[in-house]
Amino acid sequence: MKKIISAVLRKGGTGKTTTIMALADGLAIRGQKVLCIDLDSQMNMSMAYGNFHLKQNSIFNVLVDKNFNIYDAIYPVPQEYFSGLEVKGKIDILPANSFVDLLQKELEQKMRKEERLLLALSKLDGNDYDYILIDSGPLPITDIVITNVMVASDEILLPARLEEFSYKGLELVWPRVQMIVEEELNPELKLNGVLYTQVVGRRKISNCEIIKNFETYAKEKGIYIYNSQIRSLEGIVSSQISHQTIYTPRKYNRTATLKDGTIIKKAFTSQTEIAKDYDAFVNEFLEREDK
Ligand SMILES: Nc1ncnc2c1ncn2[C@@H]1O[C@H](COP(=O)(O)OP(=O)(O)O)[C@@H](O)[C@H]1O
Ligand SMILES: [Mg+2]
Repeated sequence: MKKIISAVLRKGGTGKTTTIMALADGLAIRGQKVLCIDLDSQMNMSMAYGNFHLKQNSIFNVLVDKNFNIYDAIYPVPQEYFSGLEVKGKIDILPANSFVDLLQKELEQKMRKEERLLLALSKLDGNDYDYILIDSGPLPITDIVITNVMVASDEILLPARLEEFSYKGLELVWPRVQMIVEEELNPELKLNGVLYTQVVGRRKISNCEIIKNFETYAKEKGIYIYNSQIRSLEGIVSSQISHQTIYTPRKYNRTATLKDGTIIKKAFTSQTEIAKDYDAFVNEFLEREDK
């Protein structure tokens, strides 16, 4: 097993699910074996990969029942999800279902309640996956489910929308990471970096006051900020609803009028803009992995 990376941020709608899926898909396309774990009771990732929230077993069984075989809750994402793209690696999913809402209550009564996810993942064969990517819900940073995520992870990725609330969320994550390291719940926990998502227009973001403050804060703490940014673009919702990766090339029709007045129609396929943005992010992610 290479690395466990999670998206964590209190605020909803910052692009956690979209980013974890774009990273997972991008890694699988590049030949990596990926396990995606959905720990959000909203089940967005489980739905988007193909309605895995309807499966009998979920992360709930894995965390609540110590004797549950984790492999019984892991399902392969079908080839159709990648519709026609050549995928050298693979994605499996360990989905959420509606029981995930009950996890807080269930975990509170357990021994070593912060380490349930860590223990469960330690039962996986180390050769099964190159990356385990965890999506979490908009819960308080001290919530027991989020604590489980932070204790089990090697690194935390912070997809952040450029508005005040995400920024406030980021300011909460860092001290929590420090605390988890200092209390030796997970002495090796690191922040992978911040990815700006849903960036509107081409505005030079460093001119914005909130960003200036945040970037000063990040620099002080040594938090990496990705050079790649994800613009606010159409195309994500449709790919989630149709259970297809954002990297699937889309068909476009273009008409052109020649000098003599003849109109020609041409169909061509190309990557969507959102796929291009996430592709650049995955490349930057992997370049940093190599270092
Ligand atoms: N770059 C983007 N451009 C436009 N819409 C986006 C983008 N990223 C995410 N969205 C949409 O914003 C909403 C929230 O994104 P999501 O990834 O689900 O956030 P979170 O998991 O943090 O709640 C979703 O409806 C998603 O389709
Ligand atoms: Mg989400």
